[in-house]
Amino acid sequence: MKDQKSNQYSKLRFWSAGCSSGEETYTLAIEAHDYFGAAIISNGGLRILGSDVNTGVLQSAINGEYTEEQVDTIPAQLQKRFLLPASVGKNTPQRRINQEIQKLIQFRQFNLMATAYPIATKFQLIFCRNLLYYLHPKKREYLLRKLVDNLEIGGWLVLGITETGYKLDGMKKLVFSIYQKT
Ligand SMILES: C[S@@+](CC[C@H](N)C(=O)[O-])C[C@H]1O[C@@H](n2cnc3c(N)ncnc32)[C@H](O)[C@@H]1O
Repeated sequence: MKDQKSNQYSKLRFWSAGCSSGEETYTLAIEAHDYFGAAIISNGGLRILGSDVNTGVLQSAINGEYTEEQVDTIPAQLQKRFLLPASVGKNTPQRRINQEIQKLIQFRQFNLMATAYPIATKFQLIFCRNLLYYLHPKKREYLLRKLVDNLEIGGWLVLGITETGYKLDGMKKLVFSIYQKT
């Protein structure tokens, strides 16, 4: 079954835009690894981009270390497979994302307001959650257009749960704040 899924999707490209300290990006990678299985991972079929403008939060993302509290919504069996104990932190137990997950992800620093992005691919899935509401409507419109441009036809755009009601040309609303490129 898992091999069937990986054959069906031989080149998966996901993007967490405005990824902050990486929780969303790693969750995506863990869930995708669990769903699609080892075959797609080993043949380079899955690549995930995490991007943010802020180098400080991006460094935390690259480090991939979290407190127990931060990881406690990840199901126990996935924690066991993909999280390691880390030696940092005196009183707070820390967990580190394992290498199998880390190698699926590239974190990059760039501004989503730029005219061109340092990206050479289109994505089947873009998460851009809890960022748009910081932006002036004109900038929001600009960013939404850029995100749609960077999606493959049929690809999904996932916004924050409360980020509804935006006008998205060329996109069909699936449910809540999840849209599909037509
Ligand atoms: C509230 S956080 C959301 C993090 C994550 N998406 C989530 O929902 O948990 C918003 C992030 O967007 C980033 N951001 C804001 N404006 C940006 C821009 N113009 N380009 C890239 N990242 C930006 C911020 O640095 C911050 O890390």
